[in-house]
Amino acid sequence: MKIKEQLNYIEQVKNKFTKPHYYYILTMGCQLNENDSEKLCGMLEKMEYQKVENMKEADIIVFNTCCIRENAEEKLFGKLGEAKEFKMKKGTIIAIGGCMMQEPHMVKKITESYPYVDLIFGTHTLHKFPEDLEKVLEKNKIQDVLDIDGEVYEGVPIKRQDKKKALVTIMYGCNNFCSYCIVPYVRGRERSRKQEDILKEIENLAKEGYEEITLLGQNVNSYQGSGEEKYGFSHLLRDVEKIEGIQKINFMSPHPKDFTDDVIEAIADSKKVTRIIHLPLQSGSTEVLKNMNRKYTKEQYLTLVEKMQKRIPGIVFSTDIIVGFPGETEQDFEDTLDVVKKVHFEQVFMFIYSRRKGTMADKMENQVLEEIKHKRFERLKQLVESQIAENNQKYIGTVQNILVEGKSKNNDHMLTGRTDTNKVVILEGEEDLIGKTIPIKIVSEHMWYLKGVKS
Ligand code: SAH
Ligand code: SF4
Ligand code: F3S
Repeated sequence: MKIKEQLNYIEQVKNKFTKPHYYYILTMGCQLNENDSEKLCGMLEKMEYQKVENMKEADIIVFNTCCIRENAEEKLFGKLGEAKEFKMKKGTIIAIGGCMMQEPHMVKKITESYPYVDLIFGTHTLHKFPEDLEKVLEKNKIQDVLDIDGEVYEGVPIKRQDKKKALVTIMYGCNNFCSYCIVPYVRGRERSRKQEDILKEIENLAKEGYEEITLLGQNVNSYQGSGEEKYGFSHLLRDVEKIEGIQKINFMSPHPKDFTDDVIEAIADSKKVTRIIHLPLQSGSTEVLKNMNRKYTKEQYLTLVEKMQKRIPGIVFSTDIIVGFPGETEQDFEDTLDVVKKVHFEQVFMFIYSRRKGTMADKMENQVLEEIKHKRFERLKQLVESQIAENNQKYIGTVQNILVEGKSKNNDHMLTGRTDTNKVVILEGEEDLIGKTIPIKIVSEHMWYLKGVKS
């Protein structure tokens, strides 16, 4: 019903224009935030706005924000400064949405210090963007943020970034309240989409020629479908497996505490589910994990890894690690290094603990000194890099099937793709290879990427 109303607003906005209109969008967060941006692009393009890559050409500038760590705020304020220039020169509309707009103190700061912002919307009101924009076009300033969980809306227009790979959000929100994390406060409680809606979306994607999908949620393995029979994440994986045309299934992020045997079995039986599993560790110390409210111990994490390695030959892992959580001692940090040494992660996303207003960890008194956090971060980085360099050696001389994704960002004459284990591969070749899967022989390693030639 609500989406139908939005489609009416889309018509109204569209009818206002006689000449082409342009939008610029900056996505500042995770893949869920990216998927939200794809919906914003979908709505804007239905209103006949065209996308531009440069703020200066835009009639509307949209910032889709993140607030997971402090540096996100600095980045937004910098960008707002840039956008102001265009507001002054030609009256460009400035809109800010996303997770940061669910933080009341940030909304206050923006309204007080950046009064030229026209539209503030939150994560629960994203689908109302056409209605909000219509009001802004009538020269109103709009704040549309809900602090209660939004419903799950189906049918929001979407304009995807890629032609072969698609992001599919299967659930919104998070119930875990890890003590360092802001997400449960800005995204609300867990709400799963119905399995019929998810499967239909993926079937349609397959018909459009999509080959690879990523199932998204803050805690995908606590997915709960609807209906009388219990329908969990393992059921969803098995049903997506059956969809013809889809060749590869990724998911992000599972929680170690919910990695039940049925999920492991579904992956083991699958020919499509990726063999690189993102399994966020956060810390290797049982004491720190307890204070983080992660609900598993160092030993349970290692046992889970071993169990999966036994059941699923060839499986590898990537992870997220936070250093310098309040109260982290030298021994706690050594425990983290110990897990890294034992698991041999394929990739590690490393973060320095950042205090977030309103979270439990922010109230803890034993905050770690900045200097110590940075030193530990460097030590972890060195260990990870040495492991990755060592690990990369095993690829040299092998032939990998690579889906060529596009031109390399750093070198226009090269193409880029990924191995099954998500390693970036750079290769020489003509543009007509883009979108094709081809065998590539790996010839050298360069820490964060491999180089290959057509085999
Ligand atoms: N739901 C996902 C993660 C979302 S946030 C999961 O549980 O894996 C992505 C990563 O950011 C987290 O895994 C964590 O490592 C990091 N992170 C979250 N809050 C943080 C904070 N306050 N300081 C530093 N890193 C943080
Ligand atoms: Fe944050 Fe934990 Fe939820 Fe992930 S599982 S979003 S880290 S609270
Ligand atoms: Fe994602 Fe950042 Fe929000 S990590 S869920 S965009 S706070």
